[in-house]
Amino acid sequence: MVRVTAFTVRVPATSANLGPGFDALGLALSLYDEVTARVTAEPTTVRVTGEGAGDLAKDEEHLVIKAMRETFAEIGEQPAGIELTCVNAIPQARGLGSSSAAIVAGVTLANALSGGKLSQEDELRIAGRLEGHPDNVAPCLLGGFTIAWTSHDGARAVSTEVHPAVQPALFVPANRGLTKEARAALPASVPHADASFNAGRSALLVYALTKDPSLLFEATEDRLHQDYRAPGMPESAALVKKLRGRKIAAVISGAGPTVLALSGIPADFAGESGWVCHTLAPESAGARVRPGNISSTLGHAE
Ligand code: HSE
Repeated sequence: MVRVTAFTVRVPATSANLGPGFDALGLALSLYDEVTARVTAEPTTVRVTGEGAGDLAKDEEHLVIKAMRETFAEIGEQPAGIELTCVNAIPQARGLGSSSAAIVAGVTLANALSGGKLSQEDELRIAGRLEGHPDNVAPCLLGGFTIAWTSHDGARAVSTEVHPAVQPALFVPANRGLTKEARAALPASVPHADASFNAGRSALLVYALTKDPSLLFEATEDRLHQDYRAPGMPESAALVKKLRGRKIAAVISGAGPTVLALSGIPADFAGESGWVCHTLAPESAGARVRPGNISSTLGHAE
């Protein structure tokens, strides 16, 4: 049997935390990067168009390649070189899971190129280890609304579909945010009352997102991370406050600085100055791998 030497994967943007579900809850969104990888006997090359073009590494340091190398190592094979083509639509460093999308793309492409030796559980475990927390890689890989956790074996997750009335809208600012800095802004411990507050809200959020979106406003309240991070993203914190003042279920997306509204936005917010507004749909399928090149961008299919 001849093994396919090129695969393309479409990976969705993701929003993590969703308010109270810090490091646990995540949602896949209808905004995608498409990545093609081909194994070659030549040194690795990387071509990026769209988001991140000009900024991202063009060699073995590119995050998709690093994730591919790690996955090939786990499988026990390693190609000489990889020809990588990325067509990116997910804004980088905005709290929309661009690094998780790169990691999931790398893990799934390496697995496909190796003949599919790993299960999806294995793919999630590797991706979670590379990202450090599972709440973006889980919805990116599985799609839908995910509840993720880290067991002694690594990242695990369950995925479910959201209620059709859930309408995600993003407000993406021009400025970038670094997850590392946002995590450094968090205290080492929190009051028990705040932990208990978030436990209840997270549980309610699962119900609100899947069964009763009328509860989304209360279900997206948080005391564990957003206030601590607000000084590092004052415009985002102010927009969340303004939207919530109108009873809209708005939160910081992941580590920010993008703002996510889960229950749609009134027309007067769509042109909010300083933000690019995207009205999206939840993505139910997650990462989708297919054989061959990106035909639309390279002009031919393999
Ligand atoms: N749960 C993570 C955080 C998501 O808020 O730091 C960002 O990657």
